[in-house]
Amino acid sequence: MTTKILKIDKTVDKYEAELKYAAEIIKNGGLVVFPTETVYGLGADGTNPEAAKRIYEAKGRPSDNPLIIHIADPSDAEKYTFTTPLYYKLAKHFMPGPLTVILKAQQSIPNETRANLSTVAVRCPANPIARMLIKYAGVPIAAPSANLSGSPSPTNAEHVIDDMMGRVNMIIDGGDSDFGLESTIVKIEDDDSVTLLRPGKITAEELKAVCGKVTVSSAVTEALKEGEIALSPGMKYRHYAPKSPVFLLDGALNNCIEYIKSIFGDKNIAILAYTSDFREIKEKLPHAYLYEFGDKENEELQAHTLFNILRDADKRDFDAIFAPLPRREGIGLALYNRMIRAAAYQIIRM
Ligand code: TXA
Ligand code: MG
Repeated sequence: MTTKILKIDKTVDKYEAELKYAAEIIKNGGLVVFPTETVYGLGADGTNPEAAKRIYEAKGRPSDNPLIIHIADPSDAEKYTFTTPLYYKLAKHFMPGPLTVILKAQQSIPNETRANLSTVAVRCPANPIARMLIKYAGVPIAAPSANLSGSPSPTNAEHVIDDMMGRVNMIIDGGDSDFGLESTIVKIEDDDSVTLLRPGKITAEELKAVCGKVTVSSAVTEALKEGEIALSPGMKYRHYAPKSPVFLLDGALNNCIEYIKSIFGDKNIAILAYTSDFREIKEKLPHAYLYEFGDKENEELQAHTLFNILRDADKRDFDAIFAPLPRREGIGLALYNRMIRAAAYQIIRM
């Protein structure tokens, strides 16, 4: 398949003709990668079962892992799901934006899109390119992250081209993703309680301020136990897995440096280093390849660069990669959730 690349910016009015052309591809059952404020999405008509199947093929994704449908306006959820007052409360505070809500599905969304579940995930992205594309398509756009299954989500067009060239009809290059980690996912339960399934830019604390109580699924921070059923099918896969083993370090910098020196002193290693630690690590572990991970307090910047670093590290074939263990609050929880998976739950405590 030949893949067209369309480079545009967020002043979408200038690109009406181009976006209408991309929307035609979607309407005709084709695949279009588009930017969102979280990560790039691999989009197709969410009401077309054949188009949904093409998404799974292009990603190499297991067909039991359901897709998020992207809508242009929060009230479009009426057409595809059974909304509740709580949905509108969440929508009022967080949409358009990086929040995905799981609701009971209507029949208008085929089984192929929702992997035979009775629910479907909806999200109204804030990125103007994404919203215009959905609007012109006139259908909900089903879109997982636009990476090959098992690689980190793409946060710029280069990542998408690496994974999707020749597999999709079009890639819309809209520049760097603003946030860089996937959306926060919540499920509205039958009794109107809220479960957090995947943390993101919209934090657990912000959700609690709006909903009162929010239960954080244990799968956010822990590996599924043997035989346990995932609330969100995607949680059972080893996501974001770099080729080299990743270790999360929890302890004073000095101890971490000593540990690395004693065991990996002669190995080809990489370290994600906070700005405040950078010089000391460079001095004491001169053989290590250092990635700038930003200020310790600047979790937005860490979120923005994490997948970029992991993709770069994949090309360099390290014996091991070390990163500091994030805190479990605010955006730190989203970092923790992605990094603990990249590390296959290996934390070294000192
Ligand atoms: O930021 C994002 O959410 C991006 C952009 C493109 O919108 N999309 C994204 O999609 O991250 P994906 O497919 O890579 O991750 C969606 C996750 C998967 O783990 C999937 O299992 C879960 O959401 N999911 C989708 N529908 C669900 C449902 N009905 N019930 C439970 N989990 C669901
Ligand atoms: Mg994904």
